[in-house]
This record gives sequence, C-alpha cells and structure tokens, in this order.
Amino acid sequence: MTNKILFIANWKMFGDLESLKSIESVIKLTKKKTYTKAKVIYCPPFTLLSSFVNKTKKSKVNVGSQDCHFEKDNGPFTGSISSSMVKKIGAEYVIIGHSEKRIEGDSNEKINKKIHNAISNNLKVIFCIGENLYEKNNKKTNYVIKKQINSGLKKIKKIDKIIFAYEPVWSIGTGKVLNNNKLEKQILYIKKYLKKKFRKQNTQIIYGGSVNNKNIDNLKQIAGINGFLIGGASQNSKKFIDIIKKTII
Ligand code: 13P
Repeated sequence: MTNKILFIANWKMFGDLESLKSIESVIKLTKKKTYTKAKVIYCPPFTLLSSFVNKTKKSKVNVGSQDCHFEKDNGPFTGSISSSMVKKIGAEYVIIGHSEKRIEGDSNEKINKKIHNAISNNLKVIFCIGENLYEKNNKKTNYVIKKQINSGLKKIKKIDKIIFAYEPVWSIGTGKVLNNNKLEKQILYIKKYLKKKFRKQNTQIIYGGSVNNKNIDNLKQIAGINGFLIGGASQNSKKFIDIIKKTII
C-alpha cells in the first residue's frame, strides 16, 4: 500500500525494443524531488518484461505484467506465463481482469484463481473492474461491479496487495469519460463497498479509460482517486510525462 499517486502504463499489444528508449525521460522525471509523490509502473507486453526490468533497475519505476495464468507455476499451458515466472523475472505487479482479457474468456472464477496465484507468488495485483455499455445503459453498473469484486476476490481476506482499477469498458480507447460528478460518485461507491466488505482495510482505487493529457486537469480533481491506469497516452512519453506533471503540480 502506498500513498503515492499511481501512474500505471498499460502498453497492451504495443511496443518493441526501440520503444524502450522512450521511457528514459520518464525515469529521469521520477528522480526529481517534486515527483517523489508519483509512482510509475510500466506494464509492457510479455516480450519486453525482462528489458523493462533491466532498464528500470536503478530507478523507482516498477514493472508489471499484463496478465498471468490461473493455474500453476509451471505446466502444459501453451501461450501462457505464470505469476511465478513474472516474479522471477523481477516484475512486481500484474494486471488481472482487464476487460480485454475478460472478452477473451476470463471469467470471474478464472480471475479469482489468477489473483490467488499472483498473491501467493508475492506479486501486487492491479485488479480491473467496470461495466460495459449495455450494463451501463441498463443501470447495472453497481450490480456488475459488486459481482466482479465478490467473485473475483472470493476467499481473499487481505487487500493490501490489491490495487482496484475502475475501468468502464465503454470508456476504454473511446475518448468518452464520465463527468466528474458521476465518476466521483462511482469511485466513492466502490470505496464504500470495499470498506464494508473488507472491514475498514485501506483501499487503493485508480481510474482507467481514455485518460489523456487534456482531460487530466479535470480528472485529478476527483476525490478518492489514487491514480490512473493509462493505455494509449502512456505509450507516448511526452504525453505520459504531461499527465504526471499536470497531476502532481
Ligand atoms: P485507454 O487509456 O487507451 O483508454 O486504455 C485504458 C486501458 O484499458 C488501460 O488498461
């Protein structure tokens, strides 16, 4: 658990060895005194995990994986990597339950297994929750979020290693964001629900969905947000730095 403002870069299926150089300016920024309030975590594709770990070794920037397998540490699971592999490579975080993985078949039950597995391998979990457009239009947002939390965190008692990322699916990559009032209300609803469910343990909630260097001035004013999970805008270091600077200063 940290009281720093989190800036988590989800590079999704983008990036190669050349793009690694672009993170140097971000690393440099985080070394400045003013920015010690910021915590930057890069989640590149699997192919770049090791290079990112090496590149960020002497800095305060952390690295996370975008997913992990739900079963074991090793096994006949073609195309997958396990949380123990992620840990062994030197990454410290893992995104679990991203809507782009849910669409590919990650059920709440699978997500629950992944979370147990990741925590037992000492990784911190960035747990994504959020409603899709149909659910939003049918006023099912809170129902869906509660279900994702209850099933995804089944038999989880401590949430100090979990960062909750509220990412409305309809907002990802669309440029559409809830207005501040509505978003603040939603974040506070989740916070309150978690406080009740997990008996007053501290919670960390970040927001994701079309965060950019233009709407950040607005978004940073929302009470209760501990940071941001950023897709598209995080792949451009200039924009990413802009987001960090505008939030911190
Ligand atoms: P965008 O910032 O591109 O909307 O993506 C958000 C996201 O999915 C981060 O996990």
